[in-house]
Amino acid sequence: MPRSLADQTEQELGGPKSVLSRQKRDHVQLDRLIAAAERSAGRERAAVLNELCRLVFPHAFAEEAVLWPAIRRRLADGEQLTLQIEKEHQAINELFTSLETLDVDSPEHHEMFAEIVRLLRDDVRDEEDVLLPRLQDAVSPEELLRLGTYWQAVRSTAPTRPHPVVARRPPGNVLAAAPLSVLDRTRDRLDTVARGGHGWSGAARTASGAVATVAGAVEHIPPLTRGERPATRTPRTGHGRN
Ligand SMILES: [Fe+2]
Ligand SMILES: [Fe+2]
Repeated sequence: MPRSLADQTEQELGGPKSVLSRQKRDHVQLDRLIAAAERSAGRERAAVLNELCRLVFPHAFAEEAVLWPAIRRRLADGEQLTLQIEKEHQAINELFTSLETLDVDSPEHHEMFAEIVRLLRDDVRDEEDVLLPRLQDAVSPEELLRLGTYWQAVRSTAPTRPHPVVARRPPGNVLAAAPLSVLDRTRDRLDTVARGGHGWSGAARTASGAVATVAGAVEHIPPLTRGERPATRTPRTGHGRN
């Protein structure tokens, strides 16, 4: 029975640069940000949630582009295992897209965020307890280091916002990475200005909305929706604000 990443030391996971250690560090940081979001309100809650998205979405994007294809190549039941995780990621993308339309201090926002937290925690447990220990058993320590470098490179340039319409699998998600990452990171900067509450806030909010519309249109370009399984597909109608 493979051991959960939670019960292994960094040494056992293959050292600090192994993909397993990198995954576990992000999961610990995610827990901290969830706790910070739960005890904050107003602008501070919005800022923590933005930071949480900047962790969650590039992390998951790089999993879908790099790690799950590697797992499908190496494990006989990789298809079924990764499809389960892709469904979790899809649900999180859809809920976060709806969350963005709600007031951060409304009861609806708190309720929807609680649902997202439950899904995020399920996702971490599935990865740390099942999927990643299986990968650990199937590949060499050198391969865990190589995957770590590759995963980290994609993670640091990936989109930072939810994109439920884009495919959860290559080639669609890989093609989407560059344009959506530029648009998302521009919106992150504009939203930081908008939250600042000084003279440029209104203009920054308007500009962020305009960039969101462009990102919504880009998401629907057909090659970016190609590659996934029907189970994680979203109807391609309308342009979401994400
Ligand atoms: Fe993960
Ligand atoms: Fe994940």
